[in-house]
Amino acid sequence: MTWMEHLIRKPLAELEPYKPGKPVGEVQREYGLREIIRLCSNENPWPLPERVLQAIREAAGDIHRYPDPAAYHLRRAIARHLGVSPQETIVGGGTEGILYAFFQALIDEGDEVVYPVPTYPIYRLAACAAGARCVTHPLREDHTVDVDGLVALCGERTKALVLCNPNNPTGNILPRADLLQMASQLEEKQVLLVVDEAYAEYVTDPRYVSGVDLFRQLGNIVILRTFSKIYGLAGLRVGYAIAPKPVVEAFAKVRRVFGVNSIGQAAALAALEGQDFIAQVRERTLLEKEKMVRGITETGVKVFSTQTNFVLLELPNAPAVYENLLRAGIIVRLGEDLGMPGTLRVTVGLPEENDRFLKELRRALRRLDR
Ligand SMILES: Cc1ncc(COP(=O)(O)O)c(C=O)c1O
Repeated sequence: MTWMEHLIRKPLAELEPYKPGKPVGEVQREYGLREIIRLCSNENPWPLPERVLQAIREAAGDIHRYPDPAAYHLRRAIARHLGVSPQETIVGGGTEGILYAFFQALIDEGDEVVYPVPTYPIYRLAACAAGARCVTHPLREDHTVDVDGLVALCGERTKALVLCNPNNPTGNILPRADLLQMASQLEEKQVLLVVDEAYAEYVTDPRYVSGVDLFRQLGNIVILRTFSKIYGLAGLRVGYAIAPKPVVEAFAKVRRVFGVNSIGQAAALAALEGQDFIAQVRERTLLEKEKMVRGITETGVKVFSTQTNFVLLELPNAPAVYENLLRAGIIVRLGEDLGMPGTLRVTVGLPEENDRFLKELRRALRRLDR
């Protein structure tokens, strides 16, 4: 080992960097294609409402100034929207930015973070970056969470249990009764329950409850939300969370002071005020998802219908299908990069994008059958 390698923190040796969905430009360059359909990052594909675009244009006029570090207006609007106080509200550079600072505020050397797998890979990266030891428990075969098994893993050194609800990449939910049971068992163990609800706005299952509705009832819960999904602002990097006041105060000491830029703050504020657009996107996405599930099922491929804006396909030859789709200009997500070999995760796109995806899926399956 060279002295320079010696400088690097030891736990990083086992850590793989995050593998995002392929960027459009990369696929264009690699495959010599012009038109690309991006169904790999669960973004909202519908054009943004004029009020959000207008807010972005106005904020752009002021970018020679630093943003408001307290995000005063946005925090108050989020607090009002969720029925909590601004002192219980956090904003940050995406869920991702919040998680990194959150673990920095929480973790002492040797502390543990517990979560079920497979799930969103950023939990592991953010927890490890803060020096935590990650303790994982597999989901059951049917993708449900073994609450007792998971809670049993929480010990003296566990600071937080992270739950993605609905879960990425499986797309299923932890129902209300289980969430309540988990929260109360964790309270006894003095462990924070961190619930990532990036896809909450898409859920239709009546057994679902958002942690937001339990926030007053439970003292030990942190809820993460984002403007990157249904709100359509993935490129601007704005996430938000609600947390007990002591957690918000600790977060404030380690957060990136100017982590949410002024355009992001203005756009998020306008987006939050446009709930009619959110309702419309939800409705259209659910209709498109139904159509996609039907189309995929007709090909004979098993599809897990999810509570989110993506579906998960079970395909023994997933890498070959993935490659065929790429060659046709369609970017989906390879399940093995998300801890689920033998699957593809596909975002619900615009109607014409979904039609193209179904057509190219059928073509790829026929080609690989030969
Ligand atoms: C479970 C989960 N949480 C959060 C996010 C969004 O992260 P961010 O707010 O950093 O864009 C994603 C996006 O893929 C996700 O799948």
